[in-house]
Amino acid sequence: MTTQITSLEEYHKEYAKSIENPSAFWKKEAETFHWFKPFNEVLKWNFEEPNVKWFLNGKTNITYNALDRHIRDRGDKTAILWEPNHPEEKVVKLSYKELLTEVCKCANAFKNLGIKKGDRVVLYMPMVPELAIGVLACARIGAVHSVVFAGFSARALSDRVNDAQAKLIICSDFNQRGTKKIPVKKVVDDALELGCDSIENVLVLKNTGDSVSWNSSKNKWWHEEVDKQMPYCHAEEMDSEDLLFILYTSGSTGKPKGVVHTIGGYMVYTSYSFRNVFQYQEDDVYWCTADIGWITGHSYIIYGPLLSGATTIMFEGIPTHPTPSRFWQICEKHKVNQFYTAPTAIRALMACGHDLPNKSDLSSIRVLGTVGEPINEEAWHWYDKHIGRGKAPIVDTWWQTETGGILISPLPGITDNKPTYASYPLPGIQAVLVDPDGNELTENNVEGLLCIKHPWPSMIRTTYGDHERCKTVYFSTFKGMYFTGDGARKDDEGRIRVIGRVDDVINVSGHRMGTAEVENAINEHPNVIESAIVGYPHDIKGQGIYAFVITQGAAKDNTTRKEILEVVTREIAPIAKPDKIQFVDGLPKTRSGKIMRRILRKVASNEAHSLGDISTLLNPECVQEIIEGAF
Ligand code: WTA
Repeated sequence: MTTQITSLEEYHKEYAKSIENPSAFWKKEAETFHWFKPFNEVLKWNFEEPNVKWFLNGKTNITYNALDRHIRDRGDKTAILWEPNHPEEKVVKLSYKELLTEVCKCANAFKNLGIKKGDRVVLYMPMVPELAIGVLACARIGAVHSVVFAGFSARALSDRVNDAQAKLIICSDFNQRGTKKIPVKKVVDDALELGCDSIENVLVLKNTGDSVSWNSSKNKWWHEEVDKQMPYCHAEEMDSEDLLFILYTSGSTGKPKGVVHTIGGYMVYTSYSFRNVFQYQEDDVYWCTADIGWITGHSYIIYGPLLSGATTIMFEGIPTHPTPSRFWQICEKHKVNQFYTAPTAIRALMACGHDLPNKSDLSSIRVLGTVGEPINEEAWHWYDKHIGRGKAPIVDTWWQTETGGILISPLPGITDNKPTYASYPLPGIQAVLVDPDGNELTENNVEGLLCIKHPWPSMIRTTYGDHERCKTVYFSTFKGMYFTGDGARKDDEGRIRVIGRVDDVINVSGHRMGTAEVENAINEHPNVIESAIVGYPHDIKGQGIYAFVITQGAAKDNTTRKEILEVVTREIAPIAKPDKIQFVDGLPKTRSGKIMRRILRKVASNEAHSLGDISTLLNPECVQEIIEGAF
């Protein structure tokens, strides 16, 4: 097991060591894992290309470390504790032994379907144990998994399948979310209709048992392919820098990018950060409410906890089904010790009143976590008082799909706990704030752009199929640094509070949305000429989406609004639907034709009184109309 810091003094000591000699620091942590062949160099890097390699020439398998390694000491311990959508359905507990067997059977089925080391497999699944099994089965045989959140549309799914050139899609017949059933297989069929030539097979899990249409040459049932397999599959020897997974995320341009993580570094860092940030103890029950379709589910439902031999809960449902007490009932039912969720969920449940959490026995909770967006003070205090009962430290964890693991976070009970501050970087993380020219702001009490100066093991290696994009987006803004895209503030003791994105990314309920991506979708409506979207403060979602739309030949009414929402749902996902749509005759542009989002953001945030200088606009006359028509 990686080390676990237990005191403030130790944190300072470990941090200092990690900066003085990063290679020695991470060598020691990496050596706590099983390597089929040891690495002979810890780190090689430059941020110009960028080219970052950790634990060079080491051979390992992440599932060997997450499963086989635990069999002797905790083979019968529950690895995955699955809580179903409907509370009256049966809980499933998979021990480490059972999980290993299931992963091996699934891995053998993949092989049988022609999946080989390096092939890409897309998982478009509900939050059921088979999703974790499928992910681990890919890693077992060295296939590259790419989980696509099951709320994405057929178009978004096919774009991702094609970008990854995946050979296999795994899905269910239907997903259950609260009282709704979602026809997942149908979405996959629609995605294939749009053209996914690389796909050879679709493996379908019988989840609800509702009938689905069937293509007998390409479609295979999970139970028919997996159940008959042998219960053991050799863990493929993988190079430390071989690909583990691709996860698509939104950026400033229209096309989602495939963030690539590699095996060795991701393994070491997710386990190290999990053990330290959640202070996991052997008999604890840990619950992260994220969906495995996002990075949080990858790193802190599957890999970090399993690599640490933890019991990790997987929840199929939603916070409000059958009642808004569901989260708290689950915490009581399974005596959860660490509870990790998103500010948007806290705010939504906060709006349901204090009496709901007060009805549940939450005394088992020792650590509370949040992730995905800045947490506001009110939500922080409510979480502290009504869920933690003032006794459970809150870890406000800052990180990104690209960082692979938590980089900035309090250590519970060890570093202090200042509301809304992600506070200090973890050992190994050289977080700095810079001004727009890239000068480091070394003093305290400053605001700046958040960058990381030195590589850490779980950092992004490339954007799949487009290394240049990785270089431009993250490593070209400031020389010699990874640029996060976030703005942050340091208080008078150097604690960091991440304020939010400074690029064209909107964070809606903790989900990243590229403005260009949503605009491209809106523009698919036949009567839309142009559109611009911006984020604005939203009580529950953190940020809402405000769309300014120019149309031609369409009534500027609710019917057109509804059609636009349908187009966005079809092109991306329901989560990308604008909250407000304002029809306008023009959009403020610079003389070079670029939309001045700054102005639109002010209007959307109800701050039109402080627009600043608009005289440099090409068409300043449109601004008044926009202000008058605002919601
Ligand atoms: C934001 C999620 C403030 C930030 C793990 C980042 C946060 C983006 C926090 C990454 C936090 C995440 N405080 N902001 N604790 N955590 N963010 O890739 O803007 O889905 O850049 O990864 O979420 O979102 P992603």
